[in-house]
Amino acid sequence: MSNRDRPMIIGAYLAYGTGHHAASWRHPDTPVDGALDIRHYAAMAQCAERGLLDFIFLSDTPSVFNDDKEGFGGRVVGLEPITLLSALAMVTTDIGLVATASTTYNSPYNVARQFASLDHISQGRAGWNVVTTSKSQAAGNFGLSAHPAHDIRYDIADEFVEIAKQLWQTWPDEALIRNKDSGKFYDPLKRKFTSFKGEHLSLHGELNVAESPQRFPLIIQSGTSDRGIDLAARTAEVIFTAQTQISSSIDFSRRVKQKLSHYGRPADAIRILPGISPYAARTKREAKSKYDALQQLIHPKLGLSMLADLLGGFDLTGYDLDGPLPELPDSNGNKSRRRLIEKMARQESLSIRQLYQRLTASRGHVAVVGTYEEVAEVLIEWFESGACDGFNLMPPTYPNDLNSFVEEIIPILQERGVYKSAYGSGPLRSKLFQAQ
Ligand SMILES: Cc1cc2nc3c(=O)[nH]c(=O)nc-3n(C[C@H](O)[C@H](O)[C@H](O)COP(=O)(O)O)c2cc1C
Repeated sequence: MSNRDRPMIIGAYLAYGTGHHAASWRHPDTPVDGALDIRHYAAMAQCAERGLLDFIFLSDTPSVFNDDKEGFGGRVVGLEPITLLSALAMVTTDIGLVATASTTYNSPYNVARQFASLDHISQGRAGWNVVTTSKSQAAGNFGLSAHPAHDIRYDIADEFVEIAKQLWQTWPDEALIRNKDSGKFYDPLKRKFTSFKGEHLSLHGELNVAESPQRFPLIIQSGTSDRGIDLAARTAEVIFTAQTQISSSIDFSRRVKQKLSHYGRPADAIRILPGISPYAARTKREAKSKYDALQQLIHPKLGLSMLADLLGGFDLTGYDLDGPLPELPDSNGNKSRRRLIEKMARQESLSIRQLYQRLTASRGHVAVVGTYEEVAEVLIEWFESGACDGFNLMPPTYPNDLNSFVEEIIPILQERGVYKSAYGSGPLRSKLFQAQ
């Protein structure tokens, strides 16, 4: 099936209050306290909905996000995503509401309960980005002396998702009779008890939230390692990924499809969405100066600490900033992103400084600097080549780059026939999977 048979999917990745560029909080047009401002988020959610974007996505880690320890990182405080999305559900009607929840630092019961509640509150618009958490500093917040190893985290994740799926079946619609005349509220024979004993997790109990409009939230997975792809192929409906080239995204998509067939699922059972950060303006010159202005706002200490973080916690202090990336020892953190960064550094002979400048612009996702038409062309090229089913839009600054995407780029995509002109019907899952 060619991607033309269905519309491009675009979600608004709206974490970090002021934008995806690491220095966005210093930009004169961003609200410096945006990460804690519900009115700012409500206005952005409504803007995304005006542009018919498919969902809002809030990534998360249960720890301080980018802490350079010296005070230059602007992403150290924010709102808990499910709480924030519940509030946004009340000021929107159609857009999907997707949040990350960690399978390493949560209990399946709490996560199942939160997403079932969000799905009720939003009338079928909830999505769960299942992650094992890449930041090792989360461990201390949960009384652990170390971040569990990569494979163990995925073993736990496999069991976690399985338990959550069982819990979501506790109260099927037909179990809740609610008959005022007979006085019978539920049918005890239809209520389903969960009994799970795994290697890492066990649960014997029941959820206290009724079956939600989607039955369970849309399941998204965003790890790109072999274990991540395996988890996705078994359980996910959407994959978020960082890809910098059409060819690598096509390879990635092929790997996912092979794994899907291994689990007996059809090749189009998963929607693949790479991130993209457009630095767009009316003219190329304006777009370039927007990009350069933001790059100049990155403090070198912040750039270096972000790079260390993306490399899985490897500290590069003491290395020559204008020298090459050294050979790095193995890491327990984010393996796929690190491989991507190492490859980029070697292929393009980038120095450490050039590398962090490149990465802080989009954190290993595609960054496009160009006119609105040029950005639209890039999106269409990726989409039509089969490299992806759509994108996770990562505006460099909020709210302006989100507004201009909705006002300037969406109409071009609509004109070119790749983007919808109205929301589809039904809950989030059916919107993403219905044909044009
Ligand atoms: C678009 C996107 C969003 C992501 N969001 C999160 C997130 O919110 N929290 C997190 O810990 N990791 C997030 N990740 C990273 C992966 O989930 C992370 O790499 C995972 O912890 C282990 O990955 P691996 O399977 O690639 O080794 C995200 C990745 C992508 C591409």
